[in-house]
Amino acid sequence: MTLPELADQVSQQFSKTYGRPPRWIAAAPGRVNVIGEHTDYNDGFVLPMAIERYTVMAADTSQSPSSKNVSVFDAHFKETAVIDVSAPVAKGQPKWSNYIRGVMAGFQQRGLKIPALDVAFLSTVPLGGGLSSSAALEVGTATLLEAATGKGLEPVEKATLCQKAEHEFAGVPCGIMDQFISVMGRENHLLLLDCRSHQTDLVPMNDPSVALLIINTNVKHELGSGEYAKRRAECEAASKTLGVPSLRDATADALEEARGRMEGIVFRRARHVIGEIERTIHAAEGIRASNWLTVGQLMYASHRSLRDDYEVSCAELDAVVHIAETIDLRGGVYGCRMTGGGFGGCAVALVKADAVAAISKKISAEYLARTGSAATIFNSRPAAGATIVKG
Ligand code: GLA
Repeated sequence: MTLPELADQVSQQFSKTYGRPPRWIAAAPGRVNVIGEHTDYNDGFVLPMAIERYTVMAADTSQSPSSKNVSVFDAHFKETAVIDVSAPVAKGQPKWSNYIRGVMAGFQQRGLKIPALDVAFLSTVPLGGGLSSSAALEVGTATLLEAATGKGLEPVEKATLCQKAEHEFAGVPCGIMDQFISVMGRENHLLLLDCRSHQTDLVPMNDPSVALLIINTNVKHELGSGEYAKRRAECEAASKTLGVPSLRDATADALEEARGRMEGIVFRRARHVIGEIERTIHAAEGIRASNWLTVGQLMYASHRSLRDDYEVSCAELDAVVHIAETIDLRGGVYGCRMTGGGFGGCAVALVKADAVAAISKKISAEYLARTGSAATIFNSRPAAGATIVKG
């Protein structure tokens, strides 16, 4: 479904629910990270792109003059959250409303008054698929609130406000990648983001001979379960032993030297991060030079490191990457890796554009044969970041 089609559908849902057309429609994309995994909270580099999958929110100010509430209708699950905005917004029910509540709290903390609103939303970003469905909901909310309060935020402030919502209202101590790319994505470009300085570099990705395939294992990932926070703590332990502010400042040689002074598991976590930061910089250079063979090899190396050293992959993701390796360049695959936080969700493959259909068919059949369940596969060009579609 294209963005205009989705916006139209949400607009109709709004009219059906509230009996009038919406005044504003805001959209925010999900993302796929091409390379640079678990590097953002280590002050490293990431290389994501926004995808043509969106959370779209339609809204109008409430018709009842005494209302203190924002009513949010989830048009997919047919559930409504009622949020009192006359007081500081706190955590509440239903659970998904916390992404929205967290962003509202961020606006309030900046002294902005949120008006009573009627809202309806729908998302084509798969939930729990490692494609940042939560960041799309946060950034979609922030974009809508910018329109409804008349106060535009600077992109970096908007992204960090949404990241804070995820930390404090969803309990996931995430880095800055997902919210940044959902705000700052650009059509036909990847975003090389320096997570320390917040400097961004657009890397053109418009060679018609290649495509990015996103393969959803349909194993739901759950980052709130504690594994994500554990990885962060292990990275902090490594930088402490190495005597550096973060793993961005460490080298492979320094790590090797300190090997005897840290637990094996901490050593391996740090080895992943240090290697992955380097791979990300090389991959950006490779993409700029259309050196797809190199980029593909870096993606495979990233996967191995995430699987063996960082231990955030799972059997289903490994199966997808293994199938891709078997198809090989002869069948049109340059490289493949898990993407996002891990423990399920999606893999991303760099493939020859003219082989997309054949590769998708092969991966689907093989994945079903090996795991007994179906994968969902789609491709996406790099999309633009959050926008106001109407209003
Ligand atoms: C999740 C987090 C991101 C990032 C990735 C791993 O998506 O939200 O900040 O840490 O995991 O690269």
